[in-house]
Amino acid sequence: MNKNFRIASITHNAEKKISLQDYCIDVANNVRKYHKSFPAYCETSLVVMTNTATALGLADIYIKNEDERFGLHAFKVLGGSFAIGNILARKAGMNVFETDYNQLISAEMRADNKNLTFITATDGNHGRGVAWSATQFGCKSIVYMPKGSAAERLENIKNAGADASITDYNYDDTVRLATQQANENGYILVQDTAFDGYTEIPKFIMQGYCTMALEAYEQLPDNPTHIFLQAGVGSMAAAVAAFFASVYKEERPIITIVEPLSADCFYRTAAACDGKLHCVDGEMNTIMAGLACGEPCSIAWDILSENADHFIAFHDEAAANGMRLLAKPFGDDTPVVAGESGASAFGCVAEIMTNPQLAEIKGRLQLNNQSKVLFFNTEGATDTENYIRIVNGY
Ligand SMILES: Cc1ncc(COP(=O)(O)O)c(C=O)c1O
Repeated sequence: MNKNFRIASITHNAEKKISLQDYCIDVANNVRKYHKSFPAYCETSLVVMTNTATALGLADIYIKNEDERFGLHAFKVLGGSFAIGNILARKAGMNVFETDYNQLISAEMRADNKNLTFITATDGNHGRGVAWSATQFGCKSIVYMPKGSAAERLENIKNAGADASITDYNYDDTVRLATQQANENGYILVQDTAFDGYTEIPKFIMQGYCTMALEAYEQLPDNPTHIFLQAGVGSMAAAVAAFFASVYKEERPIITIVEPLSADCFYRTAAACDGKLHCVDGEMNTIMAGLACGEPCSIAWDILSENADHFIAFHDEAAANGMRLLAKPFGDDTPVVAGESGASAFGCVAEIMTNPQLAEIKGRLQLNNQSKVLFFNTEGATDTENYIRIVNGY
């Protein structure tokens, strides 16, 4: 086995225990209707990179470009804004699907909600989305970030209106700090990961991500044979996998989850396959900051254990190469600005297709010149200094 790549695969039987109803196309349509009511809403592009696909030995590559999302350069705001909308609608005795942006920002609602404080922990993008959403609705927000977070990401969260700070803890301990602060002070925890006794808000967040999946589904020129999804806590990957499994049913593409080697909790959980979650603790050094999470979201694993086929942990250099290749793709393919986590799945596949030492993995994934592969560029250059350094190759 190559030291830079690890793979675990799951063989599924026909029997499914987990319902995908919460992520089906009707739910996704309603979630998108809610998001469409935001003035910042604009469908993000699906970039087709046929020349790059040919160069890598694939039939086609489709990249859903979340760099364009809400001016925030990442998909995460879809989750935070939908969860907060749910909380505010419920508080007003309504269903979120009966309300919209204009109603939520009305003077009456703002007056009712001005003392609410939402709190969260984040590697960057989720916190920015929560801060932005809370500000839109006239509420307060507190955001904690793990040790080592980029100064630019902190600044962006502060600029979105939050009281934000970098802690001395890793991501998972920062989540525990936010949870404790919420419990002690009556703040509302809007966390994008589920754990014992805390599943409802993470589910809303995951449903929020269905807008991205639905847009991609409608934009695809052809059915993909493969979908590669990067995982931190796995909420994004699970929501997207659930949506596509629910729309394609027996025709579901091969779904592969990718993570950094240093934060390979899904790989470990899939490899052990013993019904338990397997975590990583301590410092998780990786350039893929958005994926530096050591504890899987419990409800995400439930979905992925039944609807994902392969779990790969891989090295940072492949993500960096992915950023460079997306910035300068082959032929006249449209360049995409992709941050470390955004480019990760694409970079992982680009190396699998071109490194002969990974032939066994390529075969196991059934990747070849017939494959049409869907990726999600989940963030743009959210740490500009690092982006420029990596893309310029130093
Ligand atoms: C850019 C980016 N991509 C992917 C992810 C992974 O999402 P999740 O934590 O839901 O697995 C994150 C998480 O913060 C992220 O910021």
